[in-house]
Amino acid sequence: MEDISDRLKRVVVALDLDYDEAMRVARQLQGHASWMKVGMTLFYAEGPAIVSKLKDLGFKVFIDLKLFDIPHQVSGAAASLAALGADLITVHAIGGQSMLKAAVAGASEGAIYANVTAPKLLGITVVTSMSQDDLADIGVSRDLDEQVSELAALAMKAGLNGVVASPQELVRLRGELGNEALVVTPGIRPAGSDSNDQTRTATPAEAFDDGASYIVIGRPITAAADPLAAFNALFD
Ligand code: C5P
Repeated sequence: MEDISDRLKRVVVALDLDYDEAMRVARQLQGHASWMKVGMTLFYAEGPAIVSKLKDLGFKVFIDLKLFDIPHQVSGAAASLAALGADLITVHAIGGQSMLKAAVAGASEGAIYANVTAPKLLGITVVTSMSQDDLADIGVSRDLDEQVSELAALAMKAGLNGVVASPQELVRLRGELGNEALVVTPGIRPAGSDSNDQTRTATPAEAFDDGASYIVIGRPITAAADPLAAFNALFD
């Protein structure tokens, strides 16, 4: 079995905080955690500067903006995020083949322009807040699991590197997409911790045992009295 330090390198800390709090947590985890996730709230408030700061502290940065627009716009957005030094970005698979291919091409062009390594791209399938009824409301009659699998397959076909998947989808998608695909999983709660608004969770160890490439964890670390201690205890 892989040792704990290897698993800790594949933990992404979700900084769903304001700038000062995010920087406080990042500094506490500097030299220990490898990855930070910047989502819409922090990015739209603070812009690219937060990403540069995190890169300067030595983190890999997952910029989770779930891009979805016409291919030209998504290509430009992916290029901009790549040039910023993003290591991982997300795109809505429902945007379709042309948009997804444009994202891949844009990311590559942005990275070449800025002379950095291109980010890996993850497809968003069906966000876990959506139910079968919500799918019906937007005209999708397919079974929710089937919709997730089809969108994941579409993302891989378009050249993305993987998908975001809930703990419940992990084993199935890992099986369907093969070992090379990145499967990144939020909804993680260490045994005995507060589930907050997450309903179906897995522990860090369970998610890796089920095939996660990376796991995303926010509040169990960021809201802890001692974020570094909480990070180091994830696999206890
Ligand atoms: O604080 P917590 O560990 O619940 O944070 C989880 C992170 O993963 C948040 O940034 C959230 O937006 C993201 N996420 C999630 N569930 C999904 C997709 C993304 O919790 N289905």
